[in-house]
Amino acid sequence: MRVLTFASQKGGSGKTTLAGHIAVQAEAMGAGPVALIDTDPQGSLADWWHERESETPVFAHTSVSELASDLRELADMGMKLVVIDTPPAITSMIEKVIEVSELVVIPTRPSPHDLRAAGATVQLVEALNKSMMFVVNAASRRARITSEAAIALSQHGIVAPVTIHQRTDFAASMIDGRTVMELDPKARSSKEIAQLWDYMNAKLNKVHRTIISPDRFTIPRRKRTQVPGVEQTETA
Ligand SMILES: Nc1ncnc2c1ncn2[C@@H]1O[C@H](COP(=O)(O)OP(=O)(O)OP(=O)(O)O)[C@@H](O)[C@H]1O
Ligand SMILES: [Mg+2]
Repeated sequence: MRVLTFASQKGGSGKTTLAGHIAVQAEAMGAGPVALIDTDPQGSLADWWHERESETPVFAHTSVSELASDLRELADMGMKLVVIDTPPAITSMIEKVIEVSELVVIPTRPSPHDLRAAGATVQLVEALNKSMMFVVNAASRRARITSEAAIALSQHGIVAPVTIHQRTDFAASMIDGRTVMELDPKARSSKEIAQLWDYMNAKLNKVHRTIISPDRFTIPRRKRTQVPGVEQTETA
């Protein structure tokens, strides 16, 4: 089971939007079963998931303290990919999630504020020796700052060669639990997500192959009182 986390201490960079979209795209491309985990107390990803009509991806209720053992249970249940959304700013919580992740994706808007804030998240990832990549999100077409942002970020790590542009369908689709692909699979935004997943998938495969020990989670397994609640949406 592969574990992909979206993290950025900067609020509003696109963690939740991209986590939901990539999970749906991964499932559609046969990389599932995919489970979503929301570690943000704001619960935006959970809210989005509860609006969904589709049964997939599934949603796993867990807490950061139970995360490592719950991931083991999800792997035992046959999940192939877990996509984790994280809160902004709460460093200690983000650290714990990064510890159990294989690949950390840092969405970054091409703005001076976001670029300045990216360094703090990079430090967290590097301190834990994890693989990471930036995704430039909500870019304006033909804006010079977009290419400048990619160049600036490339000094700190890999930048996904797919830029996600600012498009209203990202926000619109999330309102009723969908994704841009479910609104219009031929839309430009859908193509960007498809390309981004292809790139992430290849990177995840590469990272996954380098992990030798299957018991890679650093938080010791604790006695559980409850199995993780993997919910399915009710069929209409
Ligand atoms: N590519 C995009 N195009 C248009 N709107 C976007 C795009 N990406 C994100 N948004 C919008 O920007 C806002 C913030 O996005 P999102 O909630 O995904 O960020 P976040 O990093 O999860 O925020 P937080 O740090 O508060 O959890 C949302 O209203 C979302 O719809
Ligand atoms: Mg969020």
